[in-house]
This record gives sequence, C-alpha cells and structure tokens, in this order.
Amino acid sequence: MPDMPAVLFVCLGNICRSPLAEAAFRAEVARQGLDVQIDSAGTGDWHLGHAPDPRAQAQAQQHGIDISGYRARLVEPDDFHRFTHVFALDEKNLADLEALRPDTGTAVLSLLLDHVPGKEGTSVADPYYADAAAFAVTWDEVTDAARRIVEGMTAGRL
Ligand code: 4NP
Repeated sequence: MPDMPAVLFVCLGNICRSPLAEAAFRAEVARQGLDVQIDSAGTGDWHLGHAPDPRAQAQAQQHGIDISGYRARLVEPDDFHRFTHVFALDEKNLADLEALRPDTGTAVLSLLLDHVPGKEGTSVADPYYADAAAFAVTWDEVTDAARRIVEGMTAGRL
C-alpha cells in the first residue's frame, strides 16, 4: 500500500449502516494487521451525537464487536481532503456526496457495493424501518465489502 489509507463510510443517519461498515472494516483491518484510519458519517442530521441504533449495536455484538462508543456525525466537505477513500452505502448517499464534494477534494468516492463482484451499482438497503433480520443482511453485505476493499488495498488496486 503506498500511503496510509484513510477510509470514510457514509450513509444517511450514521446510526445503522455506516457504523456497521466501520466496525466490519475495523475488524478486517485488524485481522490483516494493517494501519488504516477509519471513520463513518451521515448525510442527515437527525441523530448527531447519538450512539448507533440498538439493533446495529446488537448485530455488531453478535460478532464480538462493541460499537456503543461510536457517535453519529455529519459528513463535511473537508472529509474529501482528510480521507483517501469515501464509500457511500447507497445511491442517494452517493449523489449527496457528489454534490457536497469540493472541486479540490482528493478522496476517491465510490458506492460500497461496487467493490463486491456481482453487486456493482447496488445499494446497501436501509434497515432502519425494517426488523433485526435486515440488520443481519446489512452486516453480511458490509463485511463482504470490507474484505474486498482490504484485499484491493493490499493488492494496490485501491
Ligand atoms: P442509516 O439508517 O442511514 O443506515 O443510519 C437510518 C437511520 C435514521 C434515519 C434513516 C436511516 N432517519 O430517518 O432518522
């Protein structure tokens, strides 16, 4: 890997999908013994400063990961300078990020599932209005993406 990557995951509320993506990515990076800066943020401001949704916390806990200390924050234009990679969890997040991105922004912006073969161009469904089972689907998707992205970084493709 050339420079130390700095990776940001962005969804709408920053309490369901992007905290799970952050947790899955942290776990994968730790497994591989890599040094990567990692954070998550939201495009909406309803839950600023809040811990992840209890159902997201429970899902992470099932995999031995405590995300109760995460706090929701709003994505900001400077994130495109601070991070090398920004991953949007869904297509609406991607459109909002494209609009927010400063001309000088250096981060590479992409849809998270573009990094999962066969799921290119698709969104991680929002589990907020769904049930606990939906959070298990979210976990599987973000875990798969995290592994592919770390693989890509290790191989110098990302
Ligand atoms: P997230 O889920 O974007 O995956 O964090 C949501 C959380 C909250 C809301 C929408 C989606 N909300 O409308 O408050």
